[in-house]
Amino acid sequence: MSMFSNLQQPFLRRALFGGLAAALPAYGQRGRRGASADEENEQFPLPKDEVERRIVAVLEAMHSGGGTYLSVPVSDGKMLRILTESCLAKRVVEVGTSTGYSGLFFALALSRTGGHLTTHELNEGRAATARANFAKAGVSSLATVVVGDAHETVKKVKGPVDVLFLDADKEAYVHYLKTLLPAVRPGGLIVAHNTGMVPEYLSLVRGDPALDTVIYSGGGGLSVTVKKL
Ligand SMILES: C[S@@+](CC[C@H](N)C(=O)[O-])C[C@H]1O[C@@H](n2cnc3c(N)ncnc32)[C@H](O)[C@@H]1O
Repeated sequence: MSMFSNLQQPFLRRALFGGLAAALPAYGQRGRRGASADEENEQFPLPKDEVERRIVAVLEAMHSGGGTYLSVPVSDGKMLRILTESCLAKRVVEVGTSTGYSGLFFALALSRTGGHLTTHELNEGRAATARANFAKAGVSSLATVVVGDAHETVKKVKGPVDVLFLDADKEAYVHYLKTLLPAVRPGGLIVAHNTGMVPEYLSLVRGDPALDTVIYSGGGGLSVTVKKL
């Protein structure tokens, strides 16, 4: 009798796979300080050097001092950084700057890739705060804040864009996508936040054979779309 035919015995299956299932979460999902996977995802990244230390310090101060406004959770910020850095992005466009919190996660990646963020914000006060936060973090040269109604300002965006991040007025996601998709380079990413609130946007990206989309629902609900090569 082979090992596999033995597995047809219910008690053996339970012993083997039940034991594995019980052991795996404890093995793979405990992180720093014994945090759970979800808690670990919400930890700020460990700074690699002085450049990252300055950026992370501003992120932490914004987080603990009420300096964010409708900003992404840390887990989504880290995802933005990871996606941006792993595709060696040179040009990132964000719609919805707020106070620059997600922009600083982009800056973590762009300080490595030598890239630049152009971020669009309607509210002048929040745009000014974002600029001040970028200056405090030492990354002013990595980010341009465009003040105005993004319904109009995005029409001036020129490609190629490596990563596009939509995080402003949800009812305009479809408009932003239609306006900006031609500027996204083949192989580039379109990331949208709070996608649970934008079913028509999801129908559009899921229904386009030139795109492929996955939704990461752990943080605020992030859809990640590739414009196929
Ligand atoms: C959810 S917040 C952005 C959060 C930011 N991405 C972060 O994680 O820190 C949305 C921002 O979009 C801005 N916004 C809303 N409608 C806009 C428009 N039509 N044009 C430009 N910005 C807009 C709001 O003023 C607000 O600051």
